[in-house]
Amino acid sequence: MKKSIAVLYGGKTAEHDVSIITGVQLMDNADKNKYNIVPVYIARDGQWYTGEKLRDIEFLKTFDGNSKDIEKVYISPIPGSSSLMSAEKKTGFFGGSKAQDIHIDAVIPAMHGMNGEDGSMQGLFQLAEIPYACTGIMGSAVGMDKIVMKSVFKGCGFPQIPYINFTRTQWNEDQNAIINRAEAEIGYPMIVKPSNLGSSIGISKATDKDTLITAIKVAASYDRRLIIEHAVENLMEVNCSCLGFEDDIKVSELEEPVTWESFLTFDEKYLRGGKSKGMASLDRRIPAQISQEMADNVRQLSKNIFAALDCKGIVRIDFIIDKATNTLYVNEINSLPGSFAFYLWDPIGVTYPTLIDEMINQAFVLHKQMQDNNYAYDSNILSKMKAGSAKLVK
Ligand SMILES: Nc1ncnc2c1ncn2[C@@H]1O[C@H](COP(=O)(O)OP(=O)(O)O)[C@@H](O)[C@H]1O
Ligand SMILES: [Mg+2]
Repeated sequence: MKKSIAVLYGGKTAEHDVSIITGVQLMDNADKNKYNIVPVYIARDGQWYTGEKLRDIEFLKTFDGNSKDIEKVYISPIPGSSSLMSAEKKTGFFGGSKAQDIHIDAVIPAMHGMNGEDGSMQGLFQLAEIPYACTGIMGSAVGMDKIVMKSVFKGCGFPQIPYINFTRTQWNEDQNAIINRAEAEIGYPMIVKPSNLGSSIGISKATDKDTLITAIKVAASYDRRLIIEHAVENLMEVNCSCLGFEDDIKVSELEEPVTWESFLTFDEKYLRGGKSKGMASLDRRIPAQISQEMADNVRQLSKNIFAALDCKGIVRIDFIIDKATNTLYVNEINSLPGSFAFYLWDPIGVTYPTLIDEMINQAFVLHKQMQDNNYAYDSNILSKMKAGSAKLVK
C-alpha cells in the first residue's frame, strides 16, 4: 500500500522562501507509485495549510490563507493519531463540514532555520510519535546554535577556526572588554556572526576596530548570542553531504561553492539563476578541486560529525580550507540542507527519488527503535505519598 507522507515547508523563519523551493523540489521528485504526498505549507505567520494547490510555486508567491482550495491543519502532540488534523472541523450538532483529518504515515520536514531545523518541530513529531525523516531534537538543536555546536565540536576534537563567543548583554555592558578580548585572542581580520541564523544573514567581516564595532552591532541586531571568528583570507570552501543513521553513513560527492573575496550574500545564494532552483542553482564546482588526501579527510570528518550529533537522514557539513597552510576546518553542519543537497548525490549515481526512499526508510527504522524503549518505570513513590504532601517533596 502507498504510504502517505506529509512534506512540510515554508515556516516562520527568515529562510521561509528557500524552504518552499526545497519542499516543492522534494515533492516533485518523490515516487508517485510509492507515496501519496501530502503538502503542508506553513505560512509566514506559522499557520499550517494543506491542499494540492500548495505544490504550485505561483500559488505560493501570492499566498492567500482564505483560498477555497486549501485547508488549515495541524499535528496534535498527543500520540496515536498519525494524522494531519483539520483545524476547520466543526463540532456540535450542526457541525459537519467538508473538513476531514488526513492520515499520514511519516513526515519529511523540508524546513530551514528557526522553527523547523532547530529541533522544535522534531519535538512535535516525537511527542506525536509520528516517524520523521531528519535528525532528532538534540542533533538539530546543537547544529542550529553555532556556539553550542562549536563547544560540542571542540569536545570531540574536530578542527575549528579560533573563535570567541559572548552575549549582547555583555557587549552592551562593556564594549571595550569584548573588543580587547577579540583583538587579543583572535586578531584582525575577523568574522562576526549571530549564533542562531543561517544563509549568511547578519554576518560581516571586520578589518579594524571601527568595522568590528559595526559588525558586532549588525550581528547583535539579529541575535543575543554572538561569535567572532578569525577570518580566513585565502580560503576554499568544501561541502559534503551525509546520509544515513547510526553506523550506516554514506558520504556524497564534494562541492566547492565558488566564492569570491567577499562571501556570498543571501540574494546571491538563492536568487541567482532566476527561478526556483534553490541551492542547486548556486555556482559551484563538483567535484571540489582538492587532493585525494584532503577529500578523504573531509569525508571521514563528515562521518564523525554525523555520528557525534546522532544525525539521521540527509545533512550537509561545510568546511573551510585555509589555502595558505592547507589546513582543514569544520565550519558548520546543516541538519536540513537546502535542496536536501541532492545535487551532491546525483553525480555519484544516487538519484533524488532514492534519497527520498532512504530518508523515509530511516524515519521508520528510528520510529521502531523508539517503540522498543521501555517508557514505564514502576516506582513506589506515589504509593508512599500522603494527600497534600507532594509540594514538600524534592
Ligand atoms: N572564519 C571565516 N573566514 C572566512 N570566511 C568565513 C568564515 N566564516 C564564514 N565565512 C564565510 O561566510 C559564509 C557564511 O558563514 P557560515 O558560518 O556558514 O554561516 P551561515 O550559517 O549563515 O551559512 C561562509 O560560507 C563563508 O563563505
Ligand atoms: Mg553556511
